[in-house]
Amino acid sequence: MTVRLAVTGATGVVGGGVARRLATAGIEQRLVVRSPHRTPALPGAEVAQASYADAPAVRAALAGIDTLFMVSGSEEPNRLAAHLTFVDAAVEAGVRRIVYTSFFHASPDSTFLLARDHWHTEARIRDAGLAFTFLRDNLYADAFLDFAGPEGVIRGPAGNGQVSAVARADVIDAAVAVLLDASKAPHGQTRHDGASYGLTGPMALTLAEIAETITRVTGRRARYQALHGQGTKGFAGQPQQPVAVAACGHACTEHVETRRKRRPHQLTKRIGGRAVHGVFRRRLIDSAPSP
Ligand SMILES: NC(=O)c1ccc[n+]([C@@H]2O[C@H](COP(=O)([O-])OP(=O)(O)OC[C@H]3O[C@@H](n4cnc5c(N)ncnc54)[C@H](OP(=O)(O)O)[C@@H]3O)[C@@H](O)[C@H]2O)c1
Repeated sequence: MTVRLAVTGATGVVGGGVARRLATAGIEQRLVVRSPHRTPALPGAEVAQASYADAPAVRAALAGIDTLFMVSGSEEPNRLAAHLTFVDAAVEAGVRRIVYTSFFHASPDSTFLLARDHWHTEARIRDAGLAFTFLRDNLYADAFLDFAGPEGVIRGPAGNGQVSAVARADVIDAAVAVLLDASKAPHGQTRHDGASYGLTGPMALTLAEIAETITRVTGRRARYQALHGQGTKGFAGQPQQPVAVAACGHACTEHVETRRKRRPHQLTKRIGGRAVHGVFRRRLIDSAPSP
């Protein structure tokens, strides 16, 4: 098997969803993971082991690869350094195109601090002279179930800021569209090369409205608890400034709509009737629409 496409994060929601969809489409791929034993067994897929921070392992894992789907790493303190190591090692391995899951309105001075990592990762990819596509995802709509946790409390320094959260199914859908085009043009250009797509859901909601929605459609009581002041810890335990969520998105993207020719998933549709927290992720992947 001569594999030209690699996918990271296949043990997770987005990378796993993308890998499954590519396998269904008959695309051969290499799944680059930290834990091979947790990697889904898929037709046409081979597995290579590498953590983003392990440059020699990454170079070996990406040998012969043209197009790389890079899922951003877990929000650990050394995430940015690991991303930069990974990108450098990918370039050394001969990768020609990176499709990267970035963040909505990523910039070096984003109020939402995690978005700064994404901007610096984008910059490293751009500066390397590779073909690239950045999928600039807003907060994941279905991740609010995770943020609420077993207590049902969504904590964040968002005030009445609104966020047009995007369903991970839509992120998966957009990534698959970009990667399928790349698989048809392994050495040539695609219409997505050089593009940054802001991916959001179809409506902007406050976190209180999102909590109300979770309560209404799952029957599981959820509420929003506003955090105040510099240094408060919000999503993923990261220190953030007030109005962080307001800053990360009141826009509704055209990209899910125009690229996939359908409306993005609404929050209610995505969580409706799915009260079982642990099962939700799996069902989301399974219900991702076909290309
Ligand atoms: N926009 C949002 O609201 C939002 C919310 C949460 C996360 N995110 C970001 O979006 C990414 C994808 O989301 P998801 O829901 O698919 O997350 P997920 O289910 O946690 O999956 C993350 C995947 O990335 C892999 N990974 C993490 N750090 C890595 C590293 N240093 N080296 C190699 N592989 C690594 C994980 O491997 P293991 O299985 O070995 O851990 C896993 O396969 C997350 O990793 C995070 O960066 C965004």
